[in-house]
Amino acid sequence: MVRILVTGGGGFIGSHLARELYSQGNFVRIADIKFDDYISNRYYSEKMELDLRIFKNCLALTKDIDRIYNLAANMGGIGFITAIGAEVMHDNTLINTHMIEAAKQNKVKRYLFSSSACIYPTYKQMISEVKGLREEDAYPADPDNFYGWEKLYTEKMCEAYQRDCKMDIRILRYHNIYGPEGTYMGGREKSPAALCRKVAEATDPGSIVIWGDGKQTRSYCYIDDAVKGTIALMESNYEKPINIGSEQLVSIDELADMIIRISGKKIRKTYDLSAPQGVRGRNADITLARRALNWQPEITLETGLAITYEWIKSRLEKKTDSQIETSTQFI
Ligand SMILES: NC(=O)c1ccc[n+]([C@@H]2O[C@H](COP(=O)([O-])OP(=O)(O)OC[C@H]3O[C@@H](n4cnc5c(N)ncnc54)[C@H](O)[C@@H]3O)[C@@H](O)[C@H]2O)c1
Repeated sequence: MVRILVTGGGGFIGSHLARELYSQGNFVRIADIKFDDYISNRYYSEKMELDLRIFKNCLALTKDIDRIYNLAANMGGIGFITAIGAEVMHDNTLINTHMIEAAKQNKVKRYLFSSSACIYPTYKQMISEVKGLREEDAYPADPDNFYGWEKLYTEKMCEAYQRDCKMDIRILRYHNIYGPEGTYMGGREKSPAALCRKVAEATDPGSIVIWGDGKQTRSYCYIDDAVKGTIALMESNYEKPINIGSEQLVSIDELADMIIRISGKKIRKTYDLSAPQGVRGRNADITLARRALNWQPEITLETGLAITYEWIKSRLEKKTDSQIETSTQFI
């Protein structure tokens, strides 16, 4: 039986990933600094509530483990990563430095680091109609926020451990992953979840506020597809950074329109031009993932958004949210 550790296993991608690995019959240890109450059903063999900024915790966690998916990070959507710099760099540098060194000392067989589309340079993302970002576009480096710089630095650290310590490492760049059980309120939510929440909360007829002019573009990948891509990368022999995302570029306006259609409500959009918007346009090129992993997303944006909208709407109806307390402390 393969012994797997998923850090950030109480978070969005980590909990979905752990559930899939556990259902495949693996031993799955999950670790996180906190666990939300809304993730239902047991999806792990062992659960450890630990702060990974502390080296001795990382060392204890990585004992007797074959594979590590290191997903723990202090992160959030565009509002959070625009506002918070020092804490993001401090916490994530500590987590990633300690985790890779602990994995080395405990002779873990394979290690995956979750990087981000935020590592790509601002100058490649200046217009709405952007070309998909290819892995080699990362350099010359110019990420548009501190979170992206930390991810890029950690990618380089992985490269150094591959070379000097002969560690077997996988580096994955997620592009906007969305779906149920992700953060949807409190300041760390990303655009699909934020818009689903706004639409679900709006009266009918009513209105919602869009951050920016709505013409900024992104691509979004549904969580089940992202989990499949993550496992495919871990099981592959590919050792360089690789994109996991979707190539379906949409504007934030189009994204909002899809969610409004799903809701069946009559909703007017208004625009807050002073709100953070991030880069003007960002799309993924997944040619490499198709070739190296035989992977591509299967779930359409319309289908994924319908599932996500229903989940967020039902959460709001229950009105028992502990997320508000856990996430507002950072903003
Ligand atoms: N969701 C996306 O679209 C996306 C895009 C690019 C990259 N990523 C990366 O993928 C990974 C998972 O992202 P996610 O969307 O699931 O985010 P998430 O915030 O839901 O999960 C991250 C988890 O890490 C935990 N964590 C934070 N600080 C910790 C600490 N000191 N010790 C232990 N645990 C700690 C958090 O409590 C959280 O549960 C992260 O590394 C993130 O940077 C995600």
